Amino acid sequence: MNNIRNFCIIAHIDHGKSTLADRLLEHTQTVTEREAKNQLLDDMDLERERGITIKSHAIQMNYIHEGSTYTINLIDTPGHVDFSYEVSRAIAACEGALLVVDAAQGIQAQTISNLYLALEHDLEIIPVLNKVDLPSANPEEVKDQIIDLIGCEDEDIIMASAKTGIGISDILEAVVKRIPAPEGDPDAPLQALIFDSVFNPYRGIEAFFKVVNGSMKSGSAVKFMNTGSKYDADEIGVLRLRQEPQKEIGTGNVGYIISGIKEAKEVKVGDTITTVERPADKPIAGFENVKPMVFAGIYPVDTDEFEELRASLEKLQLNDASLTFEPESSAALGFGFRCGFLGMLHMEIIQERLEREFNMTVITTVPNVSYHSFMKKDPERCVIVNNPTEFPDPTKMDHIEEPYIKAQIITKADYVGAVMNLAIEKRGILTNQVYLTSERVELSFDMPLAEIVFDFYDRLKSISRGYASFDYHPTGYRESDMVKVDVMLNGEPVDALSALIHRSNAFDIGKKICEKLKELIPRQQFMIAIQAAIGAKIIARETLSALRKDVTAKCYGGDISRKRKLLEKQKAGKKRMRQVGNVEIPQQAFLAVLKLN
Ligand code: GTP
Repeated sequence: MNNIRNFCIIAHIDHGKSTLADRLLEHTQTVTEREAKNQLLDDMDLERERGITIKSHAIQMNYIHEGSTYTINLIDTPGHVDFSYEVSRAIAACEGALLVVDAAQGIQAQTISNLYLALEHDLEIIPVLNKVDLPSANPEEVKDQIIDLIGCEDEDIIMASAKTGIGISDILEAVVKRIPAPEGDPDAPLQALIFDSVFNPYRGIEAFFKVVNGSMKSGSAVKFMNTGSKYDADEIGVLRLRQEPQKEIGTGNVGYIISGIKEAKEVKVGDTITTVERPADKPIAGFENVKPMVFAGIYPVDTDEFEELRASLEKLQLNDASLTFEPESSAALGFGFRCGFLGMLHMEIIQERLEREFNMTVITTVPNVSYHSFMKKDPERCVIVNNPTEFPDPTKMDHIEEPYIKAQIITKADYVGAVMNLAIEKRGILTNQVYLTSERVELSFDMPLAEIVFDFYDRLKSISRGYASFDYHPTGYRESDMVKVDVMLNGEPVDALSALIHRSNAFDIGKKICEKLKELIPRQQFMIAIQAAIGAKIIARETLSALRKDVTAKCYGGDISRKRKLLEKQKAGKKRMRQVGNVEIPQQAFLAVLKLN
């Protein structure tokens, strides 16, 4: 146990976490250079392409320091806020953390929010200034930022380049010398913290854990304390480049377990594993059931593919327990599913995986958050509204509450005014303002989560020319004045276009939705009236005039190949269109409300 070190890397997106991890694996000869070539830890195709670590993994290295061999477990954590619960569990399995900061970019919002998580768990922090090889690096200024932030000494900060290899051996030395060995009682009943799990189609669910007390033995009967289910530990082992089965995983060490579990939802990150024979009296504290934050309808473009879509979502759920879905129907779109996601990025990933891995073409409706409504006849009882079509009759409603967040934004002093204006427009209230240096400011806002779902992040990036980073945490529900804005095409309401909007913005947004739809819906053989309404009251109207010419008309009879090409092009364009009444609506139109500015 004295020779074990468990650490994670915390960093803002793109500050070099994955590249640095690869260098550490090479340096300890856990992998060869060739094997490390393609960011080893990011083994999903999608992760590689997007350059982000979607799921955290762990890997073990051996390192020799002053003649003794150390077992070092690196627990990789995702950087994006949608996955912050996984970050917090991974952090709970460690005794130390490398705080990696890009020497050109400086400290960003996720650097800080992940650092706070690490400090909450009393981790030893090793600050690393990465990318010092870059000509645009500004090591002295960024060092000052780090010193201000964590109160360390100048010489505690390791100068590194994951690209050229500078500082890599210093980092490993610091991991061994500065991070404490795990504590725990080897003789106590087993308590192992699950910090991640993955789905393997051949072997079922593999759960990754850290043994906090006692030890886990291969073949023993184990119990998951929060779910209450029992399994046999068919195989346990440590994670090297490949999984290496072991007879026993001792106190303080990190490993995997395979026990015939078929579905991701049976294994909950944060749960505690103990033995059936000699169970621990309580689980490790801090377990949380992760709840979806954002909901949207997903519909097959081809209505015949409903069952196929269900099968695909079921398969996706096997390896992503945070995805939820239930069947719903829409007058406009037919049969589909209301899906719950951790956030917008999670939603995009699911949509992309449906298309790539399952070859489904789907239409996604406007995402919304989950509202709590309370009716006059029973004002104590909370009715959850995950879909605008479930919005209760306002005359019968006592009140409605919406989820709020604490938003943290770090930006340059020059952009403070613009960021404040944006946050206020999004119903935010400034709660704190801290100058990290004379140039950089951290702003905190109380804000409705729903405003983040709508174009907030894109706008923040554009008004700050990319010099703003953003992170948020849910803070609970508050009463709010929400209305349902409906959209009608030629007088027919299109339920899939309805959105729940704060009353103060409803007129403005209703008008913009109509304008945007006019832009997005292709002109057709007849005129189309586009209207927005609250209840029976029309609040905005646009008119899309009829198509005048047949597009093929100018390719007079002769040029058949050109005509065919044109028709094919039209057909391809139709792929993602939906006929509603007699109007054809393209996919982008269903998300129009997200792209109003
Ligand atoms: P996420 O997984 O999205 O959180 O990103 P990350 O923090 O893992 O960053 P990643 O390792 O993918 O690096 C981001 C980019 O920075 C890549 O293009 C790397 O090649 C580059 N990079 C990483 N470290 C260095 C470095 O020390 N110097 C230079 N010049 N570039 C680096």
